[in-house]
Amino acid sequence: MQMGTTTPSVALPVFTITRSYTFCAAHRLHTDQLSPEVNHKIFGKCNNANGHGHNYTVHVTVRGELNQETGLITDVEALDQRVEELVVKRFDHQHLNFDPAFEGVVTTGENLAKLIWELLVDRLPSGRLEKIGVVETRDNFFGYVGDPRP
Ligand code: NI
Repeated sequence: MQMGTTTPSVALPVFTITRSYTFCAAHRLHTDQLSPEVNHKIFGKCNNANGHGHNYTVHVTVRGELNQETGLITDVEALDQRVEELVVKRFDHQHLNFDPAFEGVVTTGENLAKLIWELLVDRLPSGRLEKIGVVETRDNFFGYVGDPRP
């Protein structure tokens, strides 16, 4: 059997990079679907009427092939700019319960991670979104992996 004459394509190494961003925001865990008593039972002091604040850290993990010239998988500056514009500016010093995307949705770390995924998945300057992490408190880290889109 004769070998083909075309040069076999060599797969480029794939890496992930995780960048961290911070913002401060208020929220209140509450759903109108449940009675005040049940809300209080489920969410405890996080259900307090006036809400409370967190210094959130968001981890954005992007997956991409190595650019052999630069040794990089993505333009970090462009990524930072995009996340600032779409996520940090939107939430910093805001009350999450008043964000239109949280209408009828409880502002848990889970739902915040999912929303941030949806805000970024189609809008990355390069690479693919691999994971969103939300650090809400020292002891709470929420990870979300949604539908990957190119
Ligand atoms: Ni909270």
